[in-house]
Amino acid sequence: MSASDSLQDFTAIETEFNLNHSLVLFPKDVNLLLPTIPDNSISLIITSPPYNLGKNYEKRVSIDKYLQEQKLIIEQLYRILKDDGSICWQVGNYVAQGEVFPLDIFYYQIFKEFNLFLRNRIIWHFGHGLHASKRFSGRYETILWFTKSQDYTFNLDSVRVPSKYPGKRHYKGKNKGKPSGNPKGKNPSDLWEIAIEEWTKEVWEIPNVKANHPEKTIHPCQYPVELVERCVLALTNEDDWVFDPFAGVGSSLIAAIKHNRKAVGCEKETQYIEITRQRINSYFEGTLKTRPMGKPVYKPTGREKVSQVPDEWKKVGDNTNSQKY
Ligand SMILES: C[S@@+](CC[C@H](N)C(=O)[O-])C[C@H]1O[C@@H](n2cnc3c(N)ncnc32)[C@H](O)[C@@H]1O
Repeated sequence: MSASDSLQDFTAIETEFNLNHSLVLFPKDVNLLLPTIPDNSISLIITSPPYNLGKNYEKRVSIDKYLQEQKLIIEQLYRILKDDGSICWQVGNYVAQGEVFPLDIFYYQIFKEFNLFLRNRIIWHFGHGLHASKRFSGRYETILWFTKSQDYTFNLDSVRVPSKYPGKRHYKGKNKGKPSGNPKGKNPSDLWEIAIEEWTKEVWEIPNVKANHPEKTIHPCQYPVELVERCVLALTNEDDWVFDPFAGVGSSLIAAIKHNRKAVGCEKETQYIEITRQRINSYFEGTLKTRPMGKPVYKPTGREKVSQVPDEWKKVGDNTNSQKY
């Protein structure tokens, strides 16, 4: 398929990898898929691996054993990555007996053993989540973006965002008086405020409106399609292969096919494979709801019931047990 035959019309989901296919969903362990992917064939590997937290899809092991297993997979990922390709590894923390182990620190060492080059450590900030009681509540995770070489694809213009002050002008030098920004917008920086917003807002703050959220499925650790879209647009070209080795409910695949990239995903849990198939089919039918790229993060107006201070907290003169309002 060429970039001009849009993937938008393509509906066949293959189950085995072949370079002649365009969309592959491999429904077994990633270690069975990897040997079937040729060397130097994938432009972007993007994933959120299991964090070894004992979620329903993983067996918790020691952090050393977990990292050893991941290293064997990363060795294969390095082999199949194109010379101008990228790996985006989205992780949070592993937590054991209340102690936090930031997984990106551990993964960084592994990727460096394969001589990959770190281009950004992107902070993905989200405004909602569980409230911790014995440490500060976690409100970000990271994406390590590595390239295989010094010569890599980076399409900044595809992902520019509106500048805050587009009317700014040079105040001295030969360009004095001319606009100082870029008419296509500014670099989105390495701090990404991409909402899991709509669904966290609903899951944690506004019960009973779950039907309204655009993307959330039963998967406990789903990331937003929008997060992947930015990486796909910036780090690949049309018709390139995008691979998610731990595909969950297929968010990376959807981001890839939305932008006419070929997509391969691997997921060992049948229930998530089934949801991925449904989401991809809905995408092709035009009914899949995803949060639009660049949509501003929701800010409460103050009028929502959940934004208002409960009357019990407003008792005059009672400073013992309340926030300062
Ligand atoms: C953090 S989740 C990824 C969620 C995904 N980013 C999404 O948006 O849906 C990790 C996924 O990897 C899958 N997984 C874990 N070990 C695997 C393995 N060895 N082979 C294939 N899939 C695996 C799990 O079942 C889980 O769905």
